[in-house]
Amino acid sequence: MCGIVGYVGDKDCASLLVEGLRKLEYRGYDSAGLAVETSAGKVGVVRAVGKLANLDAALAKTPLSGKTGIGHTRWATHGRPSEANAHPHVAGNVAVVHNGIIENHVELRRGLEAAGVKFTSDTDTEIVAHLVHEEMGKKQGDFASSVRRALARLRGAYAIAIVCGDVPETILVAKNASPLVIGIGDGEMMAASDIPALLAHTRDVIFLEDGEMAVLEKKSATLSTLDGKPITRAPKRIDWSPAQAEKGGFKHFMLKEIFEQPRAIEDTLRGRIDVTAGEIVEEEIGVTATLAKKIARVYFVACGTSSHAAIAGRYWVEQLARIPATVEIGSEVRTREPVFGPGDLVVAVSQSGETADTLAAVRTAKAMGAHILAVANVLDSAIPRASDGALYTHAGPEIGVASTKCFTAQLAALLMLAVHLGRARGALSKEEARRILDALLAVPHAMRDALEEAEHVKNLARKYARARDMLFLGRGTGFPIALEGALKLKEISYIHAEGYAAGEMKHGPIALIDEEMPVVVVAPRDAHYEKTMSNLHEVRAREAQVIAVVSEGDKDVVGVDAIRVPVVEPEVLPLVTVIPLQLLSYFIADIKGTDVDQPRNLAKTVTVE
Ligand code: F6R
Repeated sequence: MCGIVGYVGDKDCASLLVEGLRKLEYRGYDSAGLAVETSAGKVGVVRAVGKLANLDAALAKTPLSGKTGIGHTRWATHGRPSEANAHPHVAGNVAVVHNGIIENHVELRRGLEAAGVKFTSDTDTEIVAHLVHEEMGKKQGDFASSVRRALARLRGAYAIAIVCGDVPETILVAKNASPLVIGIGDGEMMAASDIPALLAHTRDVIFLEDGEMAVLEKKSATLSTLDGKPITRAPKRIDWSPAQAEKGGFKHFMLKEIFEQPRAIEDTLRGRIDVTAGEIVEEEIGVTATLAKKIARVYFVACGTSSHAAIAGRYWVEQLARIPATVEIGSEVRTREPVFGPGDLVVAVSQSGETADTLAAVRTAKAMGAHILAVANVLDSAIPRASDGALYTHAGPEIGVASTKCFTAQLAALLMLAVHLGRARGALSKEEARRILDALLAVPHAMRDALEEAEHVKNLARKYARARDMLFLGRGTGFPIALEGALKLKEISYIHAEGYAAGEMKHGPIALIDEEMPVVVVAPRDAHYEKTMSNLHEVRAREAQVIAVVSEGDKDVVGVDAIRVPVVEPEVLPLVTVIPLQLLSYFIADIKGTDVDQPRNLAKTVTVE
């Protein structure tokens, strides 16, 4: 998830582009850059690692003056954050900025290298610049048709803006599965990943759809499909306030991020699954098949929400790869005298990649000879750097302190890991792997269905917002979801909440249950359904009010406040059942008026012990 801006008009555009990027910094902030047409036929580029202040400083040293330009703020996915990997990427006098992931980048890069192209970065984006440059060199048709031919060779997700020195005062933008919006000004056109970057200049916008492109000139935006059919689309007027616009029209970042989950999962799965073969693309997963065969134990380390994803990861690794697995919270690893050794695969799960306790556990395990795999959302952060391999989630930056989309992206990554280990060790048949991978690819759709229950969940939140305590119960992979539901609620609404394995209830927590203690039961139709139902009835018998997360079509659950989730394969249930619990916490917190995005006493990245 990166931020793109573009401008063509009569104003000197460098500072205007940087201001636009500033409004998109929430989309990425590890490096940034501009490409501006500085004179006829010439495109100047300035880039800098780190936040936009560094780009400001670089532009103060090397000013770019011109009236057509593009800019980018990056959230690294391929290639560590560095100046060389910062956008724009250049080939000849073509400059490109890109948001998304090119799936077939390895084969395209090999092809271009074989033809003599020298790459200056590790990014997938540079390939696009070379392809467009190559097509422009053929001089067949105009700028748009050259770009069309280049894009036809790409698979994956992109929003792209391109300038070319040979075609002055023109920006070409194109979109497939990543957002791009055009701002229609008076004698000027802009483009951006998101509306906030445009609002200082115009409120009239055209949303580009997947498979479309546009040629932007000062006084025109000419839209067409990627196969060349002209499109006519009237602009829409946006009346959001700047604060609303930053959050995509949502009241809080957390709610926006809850709704971004289908996209976060699509991006995390993109280019990593070969359903026909029933396999995961090995280069993407951070563990080779050779190594997978040697693993004697998988040891997950993580903190907080990430430790809940790790519990689901443990269950999947045991079930699908038949490897003994365990989970431990990072702070306890550094407190004990743990025993690690060769044969251990330590999977460190951390969205920030910087959590001090998890990092310390990684260092301890590594020093004892374990092989370390980081599952992280921030490229090249401390934990991946200290590890032997990395499996990145591609959820994009998460602003809300309470993690939502990073959690489900971790679940998707860990399920892929378990399938990969199972296939490599012969524990999982091709047919079973295909069933699970098909189910995983269908998760974004199921999540969209689950999100449609938001209004119903909001009504339930009104009923339960005054609770003092709440209990969350679940079995199997429903157990980590119960833990996560309870953690979300306490973090943002400050209501005391506990998550328990449903089978553990009778060993203590049942003593707490009365009409004052609402109980949330994660009870989808899975192998544990009947047992979970028994627990639900035990709770009901003690007068507690029950909220039950149940499968669509389940008519057996009566006398409870049911929230329905779509029917999915059991392995992917946690990715779907967590959604109503995130929404419930969010709406309760909002009703209580707490600071949802920055709850008291909490920090997004915990770099202290
Ligand atoms: C809760 C939350 C925290 C983090 C924990 C570990 O919503 O976000 O519990 O999960 O602090 O952080 P990471 O995943 O960055 O290691």
